[in-house]
Amino acid sequence: MDALNEQTVRDYLRRKGLAELLGEGDWVAEPITEGNVNLLFRVKNPTAGRSVVVKQALGYAWRYPDFKMPKDRLKVEHAVLEVAARHAPEQVPEVYFFDPDDAVIVMEDLGHLEEMRAALRRGVRFPLAAEHLGRYLARTLFYTSDLYLPSGEKKRWAAEIVNPVLRKVQEDLVFTQPFVPHPNNRYSRPLEPLVREIYADDALRAEVLELKERYMTQAQALIHNDLHTGSVLAGPEATKVVDPEFAFFGPMGHDLGTYLGNLALAYAAFEAHAPSEEEKAAFRGWLLSSFEETWRVFEREFLAAWERDAQKDEWPSDTYRERYLRRLLRDAAGFGAAEMFRRLIGMAHVSDFWSIEDEEARAAAESLGLDIARKWIRESRELETIEDLSGLVREGRVLL
Ligand SMILES: Nc1ncnc2c1ncn2[C@@H]1O[C@H](COP(=O)(O)OP(=O)(O)OP(=O)(O)O)[C@@H](O)[C@H]1O
Ligand SMILES: [Mg+2]
Repeated sequence: MDALNEQTVRDYLRRKGLAELLGEGDWVAEPITEGNVNLLFRVKNPTAGRSVVVKQALGYAWRYPDFKMPKDRLKVEHAVLEVAARHAPEQVPEVYFFDPDDAVIVMEDLGHLEEMRAALRRGVRFPLAAEHLGRYLARTLFYTSDLYLPSGEKKRWAAEIVNPVLRKVQEDLVFTQPFVPHPNNRYSRPLEPLVREIYADDALRAEVLELKERYMTQAQALIHNDLHTGSVLAGPEATKVVDPEFAFFGPMGHDLGTYLGNLALAYAAFEAHAPSEEEKAAFRGWLLSSFEETWRVFEREFLAAWERDAQKDEWPSDTYRERYLRRLLRDAAGFGAAEMFRRLIGMAHVSDFWSIEDEEARAAAESLGLDIARKWIRESRELETIEDLSGLVREGRVLL
């Protein structure tokens, strides 16, 4: 099927027998252009006050047509949304329709929510985000792991959801390029001495390569694999995770760390966004309490699921369970650090920082992010509690 546009997307919905979703009337379609990869449209029936979002995957990224990506990434996205709908239904958009051949998903319109990254930049607090994200992480990860799934079923599923092209993108952009001089890397000019230090740090690179190896080989659970604050739509009462097209069976710590690492980036960027010293301290205080709370909820929900639904004959040890959680915390620190480095000196930057126009101010905030990331990597093997990890954020320093 061709790329949809504002005209054809409406015909598409009718052709697929989905008119009832919107009801009779004049429908209005508008493109949603925040993303880079897929085509998204909001189709509204203003008279009935109803709307849906249509997401279509093309064989390439729409904003960068030379960047080829297989369309079946939408099957991966759909599979994750389906599992999440079973175990954490309040944390994902409802899927109304999926056609794997057309590579189209029709889903709930979350237009009342805002991209969490953009809101954090302005100092917006989300009192329920920790509860919601902690639960999403615990449920989606536990119920797709060997703790819960029968061994054969898990292996068959992991063999179905392979996603090699998108995984290779992350292997390169997250775990390789930011740690060597690479033509794709970009960073603010004043960071040059700091970036040279990072390129020269073989011990740091060795830690990251161990993470990369684990990322490539440890099929622990079906992970989202791009769970940054731009994949979270949030409001005062609801928090939803979108865009799991990068998903595969990988290490749980990657999802945990990507989310927590992006909260740490928001903390660092607030160095420049804060309207006053008072608000800087107050918002950061909230951010770190949400950071810690996310982990506590994750742990509580993960252990509750273990208690209720684990295959206890397969994993009969309380000590193992304790170690499992501690290992996840340490993994989260490592993967979170890799995510921070790549957002600061790799190819894919984030608006937390590129929205800071003054180069000196931006680089100062970025140096704080790099300092936190280095602390996370260096200390990751020693961490015992989430407070140890948030403590390293607090100890972070502007290095310029
Ligand atoms: N169900 C939804 N309701 C409302 N808005 C949505 C919905 N899903 C996505 N969006 C909006 O569209 C943007 C892009 O969506 P999404 O991230 O799924 O697409 P993408 O093309 O894969 O983006 P990316 O380049 O980040 O990979 C989101 O950041 C969000 O603003
Ligand atoms: Mg995407």
